[in-house]
Amino acid sequence: MEIRKSFCSFYVVLLWLLNISIQLAGVFGHDSTGPVPGGGTDASGAVKLLCDDPKHVTIDNGIIQLTLANPIGRITGLKYHGSENLLHNVESKFWGAYFDVSYNVIPPRQGAGGLHRVEATKYTVITEKPDIVEVSFSAAWNPELTDSVVPLNFDIRYIVRKGDCGFYTYVVEERLKDWPDMDMSLHFFVFRPNKQLFNFMAVSDEIQLVMPTEEDRATGITLAPKEAVLITKPVSNPDLKDQVDDKYEYIQEQKNSKLKGWISDKSKIGFWLIQPSTEYMNGGPIKYDLSCHLGPTCVMVFTGEHVYGNDVDMVFKKGEGWNKLFGPFFVYLNSDQDRAGLWKDAKSRLEKEKQLWPYSFVQHKDYLPAAQRGSVIGQLLVDDKYICQTPKEACKAMVGLGAPGTTNEAWQREAKGYSFWTEADEKGNFVIKNVRPGDYNLYGYVPGIIGSLRHPQLITVKPGNEINLGQVIYKPPRNGPTIWEIGIPDRSAKEFFIPDPDPKALNKFWLDKPDQKFRQWGLWDRYPVYWPKEDVVFEVGRSNYSKDWCFAHFLRSDGKTWNPTIWKIIFDLPEVCTTGSYTIHIVLAAAELTNTLVYVNDLNARRAHYMTGTCGDDNAIARHGDHGFYRCFSGPLPANLFVKGKNTIFLKQARSNTYMFAGVMYDYIRLEAPPPPTAEPKEL
Ligand SMILES: *[C@@H]1O[C@H](CO)[C@@H](O)[C@H](O)[C@H]1NC(C)=O
Repeated sequence: MEIRKSFCSFYVVLLWLLNISIQLAGVFGHDSTGPVPGGGTDASGAVKLLCDDPKHVTIDNGIIQLTLANPIGRITGLKYHGSENLLHNVESKFWGAYFDVSYNVIPPRQGAGGLHRVEATKYTVITEKPDIVEVSFSAAWNPELTDSVVPLNFDIRYIVRKGDCGFYTYVVEERLKDWPDMDMSLHFFVFRPNKQLFNFMAVSDEIQLVMPTEEDRATGITLAPKEAVLITKPVSNPDLKDQVDDKYEYIQEQKNSKLKGWISDKSKIGFWLIQPSTEYMNGGPIKYDLSCHLGPTCVMVFTGEHVYGNDVDMVFKKGEGWNKLFGPFFVYLNSDQDRAGLWKDAKSRLEKEKQLWPYSFVQHKDYLPAAQRGSVIGQLLVDDKYICQTPKEACKAMVGLGAPGTTNEAWQREAKGYSFWTEADEKGNFVIKNVRPGDYNLYGYVPGIIGSLRHPQLITVKPGNEINLGQVIYKPPRNGPTIWEIGIPDRSAKEFFIPDPDPKALNKFWLDKPDQKFRQWGLWDRYPVYWPKEDVVFEVGRSNYSKDWCFAHFLRSDGKTWNPTIWKIIFDLPEVCTTGSYTIHIVLAAAELTNTLVYVNDLNARRAHYMTGTCGDDNAIARHGDHGFYRCFSGPLPANLFVKGKNTIFLKQARSNTYMFAGVMYDYIRLEAPPPPTAEPKEL
């Protein structure tokens, strides 16, 4: 009896220890290697598909429990080690997680288009095995459906694997040839972590903070743009009074947005979206889009135009069939005693997902595992005789493969195909791995150099092949020797002067982050504080662009309209060329409803001496970017416009507007003298 009792308690202790270690394994995210943690409902750790309730499907791997509305496909429940629901748990518009599409029919019609929530109509089990379950929720369009349903087929997939502290999601979209013309601007997954739990947002190493709550925002004053609210009666923290909340303050460049999420200080749990690849995203590596924001909210924008505008929309015309697979991305849950531990663990999970990419376990025929992909390598050089006699290694260039295009910037507009970007090393060597078979152009851009490369050769990637392009030479726009330059060609306006925000309407979080100052709300109203009457005047050789050149060329309000402003660049020419043309490069980091006119020495000339033309829809000013859609303009200025001695170039934002956010951000401006007569003829 005595022996038996101690034997028993030995077992109890053993089981207790086992249970603890299982929980710890889950808690600290050491999942899927070594012994599989069980815990939860099933000690074997097998993934189980439960359909007890006709309106829901639950997938349970003993660590997480994912509940999906059947057949709609929306996520309604997410539990971690038996926790309460980690997602917003009230049946409403913002319940759980959902997939939205923003589109327009062409031509626009009343009642058609807009923001559409995808609701599936059919549930299918794709795989049901002890180590993996994959399910599909699909919605099929047909011409009998009304205009209010986006004309696309959707297949939303969820994958839960044994031992994983999370799940995978991807979406396949398809349209048939004869379906209606449409313009799709956005489609994104929205996750709404439970607001009773999640309070701390982390979207990068630097951008991590306790966020205001919906209650703080509810009593505030709506500003312009309407997404911005001045908090007047804070509930969660008195310090939030007179602070501005705007989701666009937290936009992220997609190359830097592969991990983002929320932390619950209360339950010591992290909720993360992890993206090992951005091959399905549009606009290139530095395209900004929403990340996480108040709610709590976390968005996965597959393709979007929030800070790039309709230049990057997908436009489909009759006769055009299309399909594309977006994702998968990983929704990861972890648990630790402090925020730093959670963030660090989530970062290492991102690295692990990158190692696993391309995933071997995705069941859709349109998802290609590693063996069905190829790679492209080479070395990028920059050939600009005025910088270096011989082609120079394109240190840290961004290089990408994208759909074949006709312009150097075609990659920025492309959204229908896949693109594969990488950063070259110091010597310009690049390796682009895991490329889906198909036809591509090679694109790229180089820090410190204007414009973009499009290599004219059509590159056909085949499964298992490595294509070596050897040396690829980029000849950036250049006509003659530099007379002066303003700014750094880095696709950003961040290096220029950024006004201090209104002390009565700012976000304190940015105050100790000088390189993020552009994220403050209302900077368009701060320009006249620094330039009350006269606009920007820049004297070459005396002025300093980080103090004297405003980061955005705003319009000026007279109380009714926003009127053109004229900036001056004053410079001295010791002698003037009498023949040929000078060249001006106006490189725009962003543009909104503008036309930049250039005048040399005579602002009253009948016509501008050069103009960019009307352009811009990127909203980077309103949405607190330091850049939006990139544009590089280069044009001739006849030599006879210049004089010996003092010269002035005028830059005029010509379009007056009722829209206060119209204007441009310059990335860089350069004036070049005519090429010396001995120089090689200009290549066109
Ligand atoms: C320009 O101003 C910035 C900011 O005050 C300063 O750090 C920099 O040294 C100045 N540059 C020159 C060339 O004076």
